Amino acid sequence: MNKMNAAILGLGGMGKTHVTAAQKSPYVDKVYGYEPDADFRVKRCQELDIIPATLEEIMQDESIKFVSIASPNETHIELAEMAMRAGKSVLCEKPMGNTLAEAKHMCDIEAETGAFLQIGFELHYSKMYQHTKKWISDGLIGDPVNVQCRYYCCEFHKKNTWRSNSTGSFLIGEKLSHYLDLQRWFFDKTPENVYSLSAAKVVPYFNHRDNHQIMTRYPGNCVGTLNFIMYIAESHTGHDPLRDLLEQQADDGHFLQYHICGTKGAIENDVFRRRYRRWEFGDSPEFMTSKIVEEITFPPADDQIYFHNVEEQNMHVIELVATGKPSEMTAREAYETMKLCFAAELSEDTGELINFNDPRLD
Ligand SMILES: NC(=O)c1ccc[n+]([C@@H]2O[C@H](COP(=O)([O-])OP(=O)(O)OC[C@H]3O[C@@H](n4cnc5c(N)ncnc54)[C@H](O)[C@@H]3O)[C@@H](O)[C@H]2O)c1
Repeated sequence: MNKMNAAILGLGGMGKTHVTAAQKSPYVDKVYGYEPDADFRVKRCQELDIIPATLEEIMQDESIKFVSIASPNETHIELAEMAMRAGKSVLCEKPMGNTLAEAKHMCDIEAETGAFLQIGFELHYSKMYQHTKKWISDGLIGDPVNVQCRYYCCEFHKKNTWRSNSTGSFLIGEKLSHYLDLQRWFFDKTPENVYSLSAAKVVPYFNHRDNHQIMTRYPGNCVGTLNFIMYIAESHTGHDPLRDLLEQQADDGHFLQYHICGTKGAIENDVFRRRYRRWEFGDSPEFMTSKIVEEITFPPADDQIYFHNVEEQNMHVIELVATGKPSEMTAREAYETMKLCFAAELSEDTGELINFNDPRLD
């Protein structure tokens, strides 16, 4: 097997997961790491057992064929462009850009250079969502008409970080792009129009909105909704070590649920209950019926695999690169999700129903 070297740009929380995936991949020999601050770079690389390198060293080293980007959102476009122009294959964390123009630029650079580019929509590799997609594709719920997501949490991002200092509808791209992307994936259609509302902010030190109610219409009279509130659930700094955190969160205000309703049945994904289920609709002489026909649960040890499978995504993408295969989620597809995010943002800014073909989204 021909091994290649890999480099991870940004070695914070997510960067560590990217490093682990590269270290575990049988296709990777050496793993390099980059952080802008030279002292922190050396210290962090020691902790992670990888080789520190400057950006110039990484870009010039032809043995480094794969670069993954796990730095703050505003740096994605610059780093992705630099890496693609240096002939690297790139896996870049979502969001694809801080503006739609940046996301479009990333697509243009990919087309111009012919580089491999995949955006980290890791839920496509998470078992619960993969299984849901299969149930839908196999026709088990008929035609999906309604995709509802309810996401309540208590992630009071730390004060004065790149997250809390970001402005506008930052959370739509940063956090909700995953969940709008799933909605698009489940329907497998291009949205027609979007309307989104945001109530007054509750988290005072966020420079951005902290709640979003996004409604999207898809062809065939299908509707997707995403109801996101950042501050309802209990916060858990130093949670009870005798209790499983997810179990505790399942009953204290946390929700991350999808309900996908079709013409012949329905599906529920419930992260905090570690469970997903499928209903089948039937008929009787008097009324329509509904029955739960499948229920799948998973143990705490499998949490990442079922609903946050970054590691497997990365290992898989590295394999695609090493074996010369194209990216599985094209840049154009990721761009469509980013377009949906920015359409929702534009709706919140203007109070208008936004047509997906609105020239302001070009
Ligand atoms: N896919 C997911 O589920 C998921 C989850 C969390 C974060 N993310 C994404 O991962 C990225 C990083 O998030 P995080 O939580 O690890 O943030 P973080 O703040 O923990 O880490 C970011 C790191 O990048 C470094 N950095 C800053 N500027 C840089 C530059 N110009 N080049 C390289 N590194 C730079 C910072 O010093 C920091 O160590 C974000 O884009 C975020 O949206 C994705």
